[in-house]
Amino acid sequence: MLENKLGITNVVELAKEEERITKLKALELFDTNKIDKFEVGTTKGLVDIHAYLFSDVYDFAGKVRDVNLAKGNFRFAPAMYLKEALNKIDNMPQDNFDNIIEKYIEMNVAHPFREGNGRSTRIWLDMILKKKLGKVVDWSKIDKEEYLLAMERSPIKDTEINILLKNALTDKTNDREVYMKGIDSSYKYEGYNAYTMDELDS
Ligand SMILES: Nc1ncnc2c1ncn2[C@@H]1O[C@H](COP(=O)(O)OP(=O)(O)OP(=O)(O)O)[C@@H](O)[C@H]1O
Ligand SMILES: [Mg+2]
Repeated sequence: MLENKLGITNVVELAKEEERITKLKALELFDTNKIDKFEVGTTKGLVDIHAYLFSDVYDFAGKVRDVNLAKGNFRFAPAMYLKEALNKIDNMPQDNFDNIIEKYIEMNVAHPFREGNGRSTRIWLDMILKKKLGKVVDWSKIDKEEYLLAMERSPIKDTEINILLKNALTDKTNDREVYMKGIDSSYKYEGYNAYTMDELDS
């Protein structure tokens, strides 16, 4: 298990506490409008999101990884070429839906952080869609298994994830409910469902 700032040594307990703390951070990010001050569609913007969510939990929050990562049979960008890959992604266009999804897929292939890539990159994607198209993804409309299969397939063929995300777009870009349910779904994709955003909201 990952070394953490909480002094937790039990995997299950760490997962729960990480979920609670970072979901509260995600809510704060929305309620304070701090999210709107981050750069849109760049590594810097993603680093800021990751740092905001994970700073109280991990030393590596907001830091680009120096270890290699894989999931299933897929190896994410080798640490050695990661900076170079991120520079290229920063310069990818984001002027229409297809471009934005291509960029999202490349950022997923980069997987810049030791942990927390899926959750922070989905927020990053929504910030691009919001700024460029006046829309966000309503993640609560996207089934976990369908999403993960489409992402697994995305480095080879982007049709499935493109359609899945396109069909879930909403113009409710500043809706607190949509955001909170979206975060709950995003966490569910990664196996975190001990707390709902609603429960944590006080
Ligand atoms: N086999 C795969 N190939 C490519 N991308 C994948 C694959 N499996 C999952 N993903 C994508 O990577 C995201 C996060 O997966 P992963 O568990 O590797 O990252 P993480 O850093 O642990 O992120 P989080 O902590 O938010 O779960 C998934 O939500 C999905 O978008
Ligand atoms: Mg994870």
